[in-house]
Amino acid sequence: MAIQLGDIAPDFTAESTEGTIRFHEWIGPGKWCVLMSHPKDFTPVCTTELGMVAKIKAEFDKRNVKALAVSVDPVASHKGWIGDIEETQSTTVNFPLLGDPDRKVASLYGMIHPNANDTLTVRSVFFIDPNRKVRAMITYPASTGRDFNEILRVIDSLQLTDKYQVATPVNWKQGGDCVIVPSLTDPEELKKKFPKGFKALRPYLRMTPQPDR
Ligand code: BEZ
Repeated sequence: MAIQLGDIAPDFTAESTEGTIRFHEWIGPGKWCVLMSHPKDFTPVCTTELGMVAKIKAEFDKRNVKALAVSVDPVASHKGWIGDIEETQSTTVNFPLLGDPDRKVASLYGMIHPNANDTLTVRSVFFIDPNRKVRAMITYPASTGRDFNEILRVIDSLQLTDKYQVATPVNWKQGGDCVIVPSLTDPEELKKKFPKGFKALRPYLRMTPQPDR
């Protein structure tokens, strides 16, 4: 069955450009992981994406997130490709790329969508929390490069909504107003949890400044 939100991310052991990775152990205590698939080595869109992942490592670190990429080619091929990524994207690849020539990881995570392409993966992103639970997933076709601002935004939303009883509305970004979850109705509790106050546009639509700002 396909992976669903709230499932434990399937564990695996696989070779990577930084050695053998035992996935759950590799994530480490208290860390999040963004696991992303790249259809194939030496392809243009993937090259730009992996360059971007390298460039925004500080943003992942700030959020306690480890990035892990997978492509269905072997590690030896990845190592050659990394040279191209570094040269063309002016960066240093600072995260591991899993080799997956037998499609073990791709199959575990349902990254091959045979009606799109029966050998290459789609562009999947799995957001995995410190309890190893899958908290969000996004899927793009091979021809559409991902927006890594959106990937950081999803992490920000997940981490914020874990900490406070809020949800993030349409087009929310760090610093934007949030929505108070409808289940919270006790006036005293509302006052305590949202000392900056809130605006009730409807009983179910209550906007409050971002609690940690
Ligand atoms: C790319 O990364 O550029 C790509 C990979 C597979 C199909 C189309 C584009």
